[in-house]
Amino acid sequence: TRCIGILTSGGDCPGLNAAIRGVAKSAMKHGIRVLGIPDGFRGLVENRFLPLENVAVSGILTLGGTLLGTSRDKPHKMPMGERVLNMTDVAVSNALSRQIDCLVCLGGNGTQKNAQRLREAGLPVITLPKTIDNDVAKTDVSFGFDTALSTATEAIDRLHTTATSHHRVIVCELMGHKAGWLALGAGVAGGADAILLPEKPYDLNRVAEHLLERRKHNKRFSIIAVAEGALSEKEFQQKQEEKKGGKKQKKSTPKEEKARQLHEGPHLVQESLDSRIARQLQGLTDLEARTTSLGHVQRGGSPSARDRLICTLLGTKAGELLAEGKYNRMVSVAGDGVTSVPLEEVAGLCKTVPLDHDWVRAALEVDTCLG
Ligand code: F6P
Repeated sequence: TRCIGILTSGGDCPGLNAAIRGVAKSAMKHGIRVLGIPDGFRGLVENRFLPLENVAVSGILTLGGTLLGTSRDKPHKMPMGERVLNMTDVAVSNALSRQIDCLVCLGGNGTQKNAQRLREAGLPVITLPKTIDNDVAKTDVSFGFDTALSTATEAIDRLHTTATSHHRVIVCELMGHKAGWLALGAGVAGGADAILLPEKPYDLNRVAEHLLERRKHNKRFSIIAVAEGALSEKEFQQKQEEKKGGKKQKKSTPKEEKARQLHEGPHLVQESLDSRIARQLQGLTDLEARTTSLGHVQRGGSPSARDRLICTLLGTKAGELLAEGKYNRMVSVAGDGVTSVPLEEVAGLCKTVPLDHDWVRAALEVDTCLG
């Protein structure tokens, strides 16, 4: 009998369990044995496997998080004690020695790239697109996004009532380092008055003007939805130049990071983005401002009906590809259904928000300031 390994990697999100269930049930139906690998690629490198029976994946459809556990570790740059090592060959040989025919990886952009690396090192793979950021390319949507969108929108709704009562500006920080889909989607759905995205540098003078204009029209509150990767014009330019010059800040090793924390103290963190924006807007407008950072709340909880549906469709599509022996593909959402694309066409890409996207146009039409 054939055998697959399944792992979840990168940040968790609602729907991972639903997708694990979909893949596992479908694979089992085709007579394929399923091994779960705990904690993403770290579990694979550390040779940790657990047989998944049908009963283990029953009753998990509605559960948030991932029963397998996850990590952000990459096989080719794996912190092992004090060192960071390339463990790609170890990962591949651990899988092959368990007679794994294909490794199914559930994850975002990092995972797509890491899966592609394992594939190049000789391990067949199939991937599923997971992320609340919705920035995986070649799929209409990634699972986890729909649930996060509802969570963030509900939070903005709640901020509205308190902002209205106190006549305040509330700056709400949402996840999304490189892509602003979540801030834009929740901002439009929640009726935010300004939305700041990583894709478009912001000018707080413009935002301040917009707030004062609202005030003039007797709108005494404002909500600003800010993606965590939003940049001022100056920061944006700096980043572009760094990219052009190929200068990328070197990431510190775990040892260096520990030394830095000991030296500086982990509590001495920089002023957060939402606080900085609120402070500056308060200074520019004299309106009272408050902040809320939604943080990991956006990644928690039970998946929405749509995410459960997408995860089940993607998972079972992966099961079909496994049965046909069609490997090295990412299953993806296309309209109401699912399809698959060669993994090499996805790995390394990031789907950011095009500034002429309909969501952007709609936001502008309802007088939302985009910074
Ligand atoms: O990958 C999704 C994401 O939600 C990003 O938007 C965010 O920057 C990141 O995860 C933070 O994740 P963690 O705190 O788990 O490292």
